[in-house]
Amino acid sequence: MRILGISCYFHDASAALIEDGQLKAAAEEERFTRVKHDLNFPDKAIEFCLKHEGVDSKDLDYVVFYEKPFTKFERLLKTSIQGFPKTYWMFAQSMRTWLFDKLWIKSLISTKLGIDGNKILFSDHHMSHAASAYFCSPFNESAVLTFDGVGEWATTTIGRAEGNHLQIDKEIHFPHSLGLLYSAFTSFLGFEVNDGEYKVMGMAAYGSPKYVDKVYKVIKVHSDGSFWMDPSYFAFHYSARNSFSRKLVRLFGKPRSKDLPFYTETSGYPSYFGPRPKNFAELAKYNQHYADIAASIQRVAEDMILSLAREACSRAGSKNLCLAGGVALNSVANGRILRETPVENLYVQPAAGDGGCSLGAALYVWHCALGNDKTRFVMDHAYWGESYDDKSIQSAIEDKGFAFQYVSDKDDLVDRTVDRLQSGKVVGRFDGRFEWGPRALGNRSILADPRREEMKNIVNTKIKFREPFRPFAPSVIASASQEYFDLPDEMSNLAARFMLLVTNIRDEKREIIPAVNHMGTARVQIVFENVSPSYHKLIERFGDATGVPILLNTSFNIRGEPIVNTPEDALRTFSNSGIDTVVMGNYIVDKPQLI
Ligand SMILES: [Fe+2]
Repeated sequence: MRILGISCYFHDASAALIEDGQLKAAAEEERFTRVKHDLNFPDKAIEFCLKHEGVDSKDLDYVVFYEKPFTKFERLLKTSIQGFPKTYWMFAQSMRTWLFDKLWIKSLISTKLGIDGNKILFSDHHMSHAASAYFCSPFNESAVLTFDGVGEWATTTIGRAEGNHLQIDKEIHFPHSLGLLYSAFTSFLGFEVNDGEYKVMGMAAYGSPKYVDKVYKVIKVHSDGSFWMDPSYFAFHYSARNSFSRKLVRLFGKPRSKDLPFYTETSGYPSYFGPRPKNFAELAKYNQHYADIAASIQRVAEDMILSLAREACSRAGSKNLCLAGGVALNSVANGRILRETPVENLYVQPAAGDGGCSLGAALYVWHCALGNDKTRFVMDHAYWGESYDDKSIQSAIEDKGFAFQYVSDKDDLVDRTVDRLQSGKVVGRFDGRFEWGPRALGNRSILADPRREEMKNIVNTKIKFREPFRPFAPSVIASASQEYFDLPDEMSNLAARFMLLVTNIRDEKREIIPAVNHMGTARVQIVFENVSPSYHKLIERFGDATGVPILLNTSFNIRGEPIVNTPEDALRTFSNSGIDTVVMGNYIVDKPQLI
């Protein structure tokens, strides 16, 4: 039986295809359309999923949409009526898409895929999140916690699962939302909502949480983890443009200017920002205030997440926890869950945000609606996207007119790649199927030597142009992970294999890998040989050559673009950036050295 899951119309549209409960293909639409966080109907992602399995839409038994549009519409109407006249513009704007697309999703899917309406089902938004975590986990029973901006009404849910039974026991409803709270501060700190939340997390490391008391003026948290937000500090419930109100500005002062580069005395002034300004000290002090606000909201969010995690596990009587929803991408909080709560085993599916709901919706129907309990799928790697054969890669290289080396022997290819990394080159790696979720985990990654402190600046200057507070992550082979990082036992590494866990670098190792050291911590990716053999081999061989089996890994894209999908995307990024070499399948392309 084939079930296609679809999510779209909010952000990160995606499609996922399962067959008899096993995932076959999954991808976010942005990888094909090249529009970051593309929210439109995922035509191309669906086309890829079907093509990958060699089937037609007529071969689908069910298509499941990841949320219930009419319930969501009801929330929009009620909120608009309650907030009128403040909500007038938001209501008028949103009606355009609701009346033309969102409400008629069933007939849209039916028309686009040419299938009968009886085959189209709907799952609840947070149930899709919950299913996307639990039904991909290796657990037979677990507490389940989901949190995001908002689904239909729910923003946070606590539930439990056993076998193929998954239930939600408790919900917190809009406008009380941990995701929207964090997003309001993301906007206050000068970043794009639904994109800059990682930046707030990175920035927090440079501040001290001195405004925690002020954050607790806008949110009240109860002992069972539930919370209440004072709506007078926020605007997301009546405005499409602003997420916080003047009252929040009166509490925290002026929002940070969007155009001002961020740096503090601790981060220093990066060379790729241009010449150091004369008033560096003054600007660094200005930014320090905002880093302190970032640290404060991060601290409160972490404490709330930890309370909810404790509550979920205590209610379920379980030491296993599955997390999903955009908030589950807060990798610093995830690290603290394992260190500070009774949770022993944590599973976070790599596409924890709305992108992952297409998969969750499909798995929910397979297990819960259809009652299948025999087969369980375990997602132990994230390589579910499209792959390209040698012919496509060579043709793309020739079209671009690059000189290349074809290296048929895999060991030789690895050695040549290691030589380049060791000599300080920045290497784009393009291999196999692209990753599911927002992280590049080796198959569409830019790699560099983590022992060289200057690599942070080199990768930023040549390619990423990111703010200095945004860390680069390490990929480490599993056998060396505990030697370098303060990680719990092997089961706890489930979240770390998807780079969703921030942990401390062991004191004695911090100076050995300065390029991936973020104030003593790292968002580590543990690489296992059984699921990523070629990437594992590359890191292992780098370790043989240097004594350090770790690589700096950042996503293969330039700022503002989605991660590359095709060989053409990779070569365009290679041409438009300072990447020295791309290794694509068995092909090596070096940038000509200017003499
Ligand atoms: Fe969501």
